[in-house]
Amino acid sequence: MKSKSWTLDTWRGLPITQQPVYPDAQALADVEAKLRNYPPLVFAGEARRLRVCLKDASEGKAFLLQGGDCAESFAEFHPDNIRDTFRVLLQMAVVMTFGAAVPVVKLGRMAGQFAKPRSEPTETRDGVELPSYRGDVVNGIEFTEDARTPDPDRLIQAYAQAASTLNLIRAFSHGGYSALQRVHGWNLGFVDNSPAGERYRELADRITEALAFMEACGLTSESVHALRETDFYTSHEALLLGYEQSMTRIDSTTGEWYDTSAHMLWIGDRTRQLDGAHVEFMRGIQNPLGLKAGPTLGSDELLRLIDVLNPENEAGRLTVICRMGADKVTAALPPLVGAVKREGRNVLWSCDPMHGNTIKASTGYKTRRVDHILTEVERFFEVHEAEGTHAGGLHFEMTGQDVTECLGGAQDITEQNLADRYHTHCDPRLNASQSLELAFLVSDMLKERRTGGITSSIAKAI
Ligand code: PEP
Ligand code: CO
Repeated sequence: MKSKSWTLDTWRGLPITQQPVYPDAQALADVEAKLRNYPPLVFAGEARRLRVCLKDASEGKAFLLQGGDCAESFAEFHPDNIRDTFRVLLQMAVVMTFGAAVPVVKLGRMAGQFAKPRSEPTETRDGVELPSYRGDVVNGIEFTEDARTPDPDRLIQAYAQAASTLNLIRAFSHGGYSALQRVHGWNLGFVDNSPAGERYRELADRITEALAFMEACGLTSESVHALRETDFYTSHEALLLGYEQSMTRIDSTTGEWYDTSAHMLWIGDRTRQLDGAHVEFMRGIQNPLGLKAGPTLGSDELLRLIDVLNPENEAGRLTVICRMGADKVTAALPPLVGAVKREGRNVLWSCDPMHGNTIKASTGYKTRRVDHILTEVERFFEVHEAEGTHAGGLHFEMTGQDVTECLGGAQDITEQNLADRYHTHCDPRLNASQSLELAFLVSDMLKERRTGGITSSIAKAI
């Protein structure tokens, strides 16, 4: 595989799935040409720094927290929404750092997570058939012919939204908002009264006390930069290869290709064909990569994908994001983990407890149960405990808004509540307080793993 030459467009001759059909191919080519002249959104050096962090996570010396919208939308684009997602991720990271006593690598599904794979290319309502909605970067969600026709100008709008989202994220990360002294201020009003919110407040009190002690010892946010700012990275599914190709540039320092649309890119569960275009494109870029692994992925196929995507077997290059479902993970994951371990391949194992647990409520909404999500995470940890490997990360869909999209949690959202604030453009997301509950669960498991008691705690939880 490695000997085959790679160029920016070798993917174009290969079978490809999940691409929109644009009515005007020339208009698409013109937009892609325009994007090739736009500034990079991220820098190669940043992507390399992330790779080092992911290597640490693969060795159990850090933990990856990757979350954000299923699909960012043009309609929900607002600084308050970006801030609220960002601060919930900060809260989760603080909670988990406390439990794990290792650094938490913060990676947003943000600033470019627009394009969606769909199970059907078209949707029919009342006898009318139109192209499926594929994310705001492709077409509009309204069920009209005009909205559903793929429009290449949306690529430019998505780029612009990603650029200004990233600009705000950079300001939040390095401009004082993320200073640990503000740990209390990250709690959102509506979360404050929930059990997870209360638990968070207690933890924030302890951190504030520790900071006061450190300050008395001379360790202030002026002297220690980690106390006043944080590193935050971006990621999305690399689905629209024309867009990704346009954003891929040679890094002047190393002479290697980097996709500058995000720090990390992942391959979806529906586009991971070994001989397909997505795997071909991704093997040539040097960003850290993710690979979604659903229950249909066999261990031989996984090993072959690893060989293509990470031929040098470098730790930090590849994150396998497992999304099996709570009912399947205990049977489906051990063969994959066992094979990778046996063959000595270096990967970071991360758990996506969302995409294998999607159900349809009796009221028609696509939803997920918080207890299924938590159970899949617990079982993921349990498998790694048994195999002697590291459960190194968590990948999930959330928003900082007070939505009612997932069932259960301490607020006990019911099927009847789903209609109240169901705003997602694609999959159901955890709201801020459900996200915090998840963070506390992971924190507890990381802590028990550290102190050697995880298996018994899981036995109690199931
Ligand atoms: C997603 O992450 O939104 C997604 C579509 O996941 P998967 O490829 O795992 O189905
Ligand atoms: Co999704």
